Amino acid sequence: MSERKKILVTGGAGYIGSHTVVELYNSGFEPIILDDFRNSEEFIIDRIQKIINNEVILYKGACQDADLLQMIFEAHEISGVIHFAAYKAVGESVKDPLMYYENNIGSLLSILRCLEVYKVKNFVFSSSCSVYGDHPKLGNGITEEASDLKPQSPYANTKLIGEQIITDWKVNQPDTNVCLLRYFNPVGAHESARIGELPLGVPNNLLPFITQTAAGIREELTIFGNDYNTEDGTCIRDYIHVVDLAKAHVKSLEWLLAKNGVIDVFNVGTGKGSSVLEIVTKFEELTKVSLNWSFGPRRTGDVPVVFADNKKVKEYLKWTPEYTVDNAIVHAWEWQKSLE
Ligand code: UFG
Repeated sequence: MSERKKILVTGGAGYIGSHTVVELYNSGFEPIILDDFRNSEEFIIDRIQKIINNEVILYKGACQDADLLQMIFEAHEISGVIHFAAYKAVGESVKDPLMYYENNIGSLLSILRCLEVYKVKNFVFSSSCSVYGDHPKLGNGITEEASDLKPQSPYANTKLIGEQIITDWKVNQPDTNVCLLRYFNPVGAHESARIGELPLGVPNNLLPFITQTAAGIREELTIFGNDYNTEDGTCIRDYIHVVDLAKAHVKSLEWLLAKNGVIDVFNVGTGKGSSVLEIVTKFEELTKVSLNWSFGPRRTGDVPVVFADNKKVKEYLKWTPEYTVDNAIVHAWEWQKSLE
């Protein structure tokens, strides 16, 4: 019998989820994927299996399918849950907020109920730096203690509300352990180029837009604004390699498994910012591909500078990023090329 602890990963076929499944397996856990592939592809499961050279347990379905959840929790002794499954497009959330509240909050509630009923003690929640909104401290390396958070979109609000719901729920779950992980900007792909980001339609995020433009799928990259109050006039973000982010989930679980009743929130970022122009220039230098790009107007809602203070995650979880932005750019490009 397997001695690996079973970890349910909702959204385990998605971008961050798939990389986390691999890292969980590599660290001695038995990941169980729950995904309905509404924003991911089934072939990713096969790719994960190739990387780990083993089969992965998969349930195809939604987090709000109570019968399916019951079946999973009854069939397995689950030691922890990592909850990724959620919608994540800022613009779409503005157009259809109810869809975001219904899915992101609804799924969370049904998972929390299962933790309660089946006495699963460890929970990691996928949150986002977007909970900080346009907080004045974002440009100085924001800490988790920042208060007066005003999320700027329904998507970001579902993440803050999610954190609040979990915090309220935790009051009456004294033995349960929870990590709320606030991700900064995940980028890159697995070094093997077997898994990576698969944007639906036109990408909103910078790096997939760059790689698709370089691959000829998009005509031109527009850099949104070059008149910000930064050194080169373009926005600054904290880009974190997706494999480092995946490893932060493993570290969170290991930390939680040694606790007896804790809830804590962590920024997961590198603590360093890169400007949009730097990313574009580095991409061209590292891949030797010249990119068709031009400056355009600012994008509504963009904050000039965002980067994490990551002292807490480093100190508590003993996690530190291992990859550089350069690595992430090269890996994202290798992944893009593998898709052709
Ligand atoms: N950018 C461009 N051109 C593009 C795409 C992006 O110049 O075609 C710029 C943006 O203006 C921004 C930077 O690249 O300055 C990064 O943009 P992304 O869309 O990749 O990332 P954001 O920082 O805007 O978004 C991230 C997460 C969201 C989260 C948001 C909150 O992807 O999930 O932070 O700040 F909600």
